[in-house]
Amino acid sequence: MERENFNSRLGMLLAMVGSAVGLGNIWRFPYLVGVHGGAAFIILYVLFVFLLSLPLLISEFVIGRASRLNAYGAYDKLAPNTIWRYVGFLSVLSPFLIIAYYDVVGGWSLHYFFEACAMSFSQSSEIAGMFSNHISSPFAPLFTMGLFLLMTCVVVLMGVQSGIERFGKIMMPLLFLVILAIAIWVITLPGASEGVKYLFKPDFSKVTGKTLVAAMGQAFFSLSLGCGTMLTYASYAKKSDNIGSSSLQIAFADLLFAILASCAILPGVFAFGVDPGEGPGLIFETLPMMFAAMPLGSLVAIFFFLAVLIAALTSTISMLEVVIAYLVEEHHASRKAAVWGCFSVLFLLGVLCSMSFGPLKDVTILGKTIFDCFDFLAANILMPFGGILACVFVGWKMKKPDVYAELTNEGSLRFMSKIYPLIYFFIRYVAPAGILCVTISNFLL
Ligand code: TRP
Repeated sequence: MERENFNSRLGMLLAMVGSAVGLGNIWRFPYLVGVHGGAAFIILYVLFVFLLSLPLLISEFVIGRASRLNAYGAYDKLAPNTIWRYVGFLSVLSPFLIIAYYDVVGGWSLHYFFEACAMSFSQSSEIAGMFSNHISSPFAPLFTMGLFLLMTCVVVLMGVQSGIERFGKIMMPLLFLVILAIAIWVITLPGASEGVKYLFKPDFSKVTGKTLVAAMGQAFFSLSLGCGTMLTYASYAKKSDNIGSSSLQIAFADLLFAILASCAILPGVFAFGVDPGEGPGLIFETLPMMFAAMPLGSLVAIFFFLAVLIAALTSTISMLEVVIAYLVEEHHASRKAAVWGCFSVLFLLGVLCSMSFGPLKDVTILGKTIFDCFDFLAANILMPFGGILACVFVGWKMKKPDVYAELTNEGSLRFMSKIYPLIYFFIRYVAPAGILCVTISNFLL
């Protein structure tokens, strides 16, 4: 069977930006900025994106496009019959585990979107306790989680061009406009200037070792790195694309979305006197309060949760595609069988993760709930190691001329040929060593 490719460069970029821009940008980034001292965190984050994430993104691009296969097949083709294929297997396993808990939060955003449409965020007295009631109730979150997973499956089922690429091409510009409009609206509210100051004036006194670890973790998570996602999408890229500039554009777009989302959230949080260091509950607890108090808030809430929903969907789509590409190419499953098979298993895992906020909240492994275990395993162990190994593979295992050919399109890209030694140095030494240091300190701090 002929392997599908992205139809256009724009379509590919939007799909990759769609993968990168997700709950990480709208939910995680703003609350991390809130907790870790505003602009100081942003500066560190940008530093990590350029020093560590970008070399890794380029490495994943090289592996994906050089092999034109799924994550497992890619390692197996470029280093036949070596243990590297287990690294490939790891890169298929981690997105699978991530979907299992990511779709729980996706389900919450779908639920909040429905609530917003029903105008439930007009009275603050009704909002208090709503979030904890919802996530701990036994069945309601399962329904929206299942629906969210179903939407993901339908898009992936339609294939690379007519599903993933088309969805990204429509949804990403829409997402951008919605977030931009909310940001402008929020910034112009009276009292918002405090928040804007907080966002753009660095407070380095809040920076600790933990801030560094959080900034790196975010730089990874936000760009969907270390677990086969970008690798798989890159395998659908055209040979003529410029890997360097595509990677840079994706990193910039992701950063832009994260900062825009912070502009949409933090100034309002200040204007209405709620605590920016609220943590993970920020968008589901604090924000509805803000919508209740804000002019036209009920309307803004609808668009806001629509944005969260789109962002989350384009990300789970990218994770599922990693697994589907593997099942189709390595096990000769039909796309349909692979998608519905994954749906069934993921739904069951999602039920466990979702219930760990309610009926199963006392089931813990090493003091962590099921949801936290999935998150910990994926974000703190599998992703960093997947990332280090991808860099080591490109920097040390692949033949240098092959990497050069891939990065410079056989020497035809002049600028890339010039800066190639620098990129290679980062992939070979800086990124793996840096990621290793921060990962280890994560366990020590
Ligand atoms: N990058 C996405 C976000 O910011 C999440 C995501 C998508 C992801 N694919 C991934 C995270 C693969 C890790 C690995 O929300």
